[in-house]
Amino acid sequence: MSKPAEIIVIGGGIIGLSIALELHWRGLAVQVLTRSNTEAATWAAAGMLAPQAEGIPSSALLNLCLWSRSLYRGWTAKLSAMTGLDTGYWECGILAPKYQQLDELNETNWLTVAELQTYLPRTKLSSEVVGGFWLAADGQVDNRKLYQVLRTAAQIANIEIVTDIEVQAFDQPADRIDQLTTNQGDFSASHYVLATGAWSGQLLPIPVVPRKGQLLALQVPDIHNLPLETVLFGEETYIVPRRDGRIVIGATSEDVGFLPGNTSAGLQELMAKATRLCPPLATYPIQEQWWGFRPATVDEQPILGDSPYANLTLATGHYRNGILMAPATAQLIADALTQVTSDHHHLLAHFSYQRFANQKLFPGADATQLCRTASA
Ligand code: GLY
Repeated sequence: MSKPAEIIVIGGGIIGLSIALELHWRGLAVQVLTRSNTEAATWAAAGMLAPQAEGIPSSALLNLCLWSRSLYRGWTAKLSAMTGLDTGYWECGILAPKYQQLDELNETNWLTVAELQTYLPRTKLSSEVVGGFWLAADGQVDNRKLYQVLRTAAQIANIEIVTDIEVQAFDQPADRIDQLTTNQGDFSASHYVLATGAWSGQLLPIPVVPRKGQLLALQVPDIHNLPLETVLFGEETYIVPRRDGRIVIGATSEDVGFLPGNTSAGLQELMAKATRLCPPLATYPIQEQWWGFRPATVDEQPILGDSPYANLTLATGHYRNGILMAPATAQLIADALTQVTSDHHHLLAHFSYQRFANQKLFPGADATQLCRTASA
């Protein structure tokens, strides 16, 4: 039987589950509350581990992403050993073809079209490609498989996951949260972690908003003869081949709130951009189409660590790279909650919610006001 929770993690996506498991491994009793939403980035994402392909400039964000990428092999191996399940982690590298030659500064690793094609022996790139880059250390994980693996690992660890639950309010008479009001009654613990992705702004006035992405998947005709064995990250599309013969194509980026659904314009855009880069894809059957909501912040960086409440920690706003940042986020949040000072501790200060108050990106908001507003 599980112990009463010391910590409740609100949100059962990849970020929430990764944190819950890490806290469990460090000896804490954790409970997870989740709505299990397929519109969440966990399910909707393409699973690229692509700090370099995404072109994240040199910054604390890049450091966090590179560190997290470096944790992936060991972290997924541990999860697979625990569960006997495959996460689809694949150090497949990412090819970044370009339609135009970039400026000279960037061209030290520039590859010709012929050199690019050596990474794609079975598929010809568009004749519009003039060259590009090979990013050997970027890769992918199958985010849906990883999610199932994390759920199974949590189950094996006896972490209680309460599903189909909606947290409606924080009950906080002062600067601490006493309990959570939910559609399944009240829940309480000594400490809470908010990891509700694109929906975080609905519980606290923190600047996290949804950024919709539409995606689709093709099915290769012969899974014993995969046409692509590396991710293609083009200037206007990405194409992510899975080992099981799916090819995920993404993604639109739309500021439409939580407006659901695939649109004709969205799907046409995806197919046009993908087949421009890789024409043979035009003949493959469409297997699935879907959409989801990235958790975007004003500066497109996550919000990690302290909150206006003494017993609430934030782990949200991962925007385009939540799958990538999951293992490092889990380490940072678990370090914070177990008072461990690691080499990466300084990142928490960088990603604090307070940066928005200080920069007045969130007009008039400071810690006290955030606290008061959330109690309204
Ligand atoms: N990481 C890719 C995307 O968010 O579309």
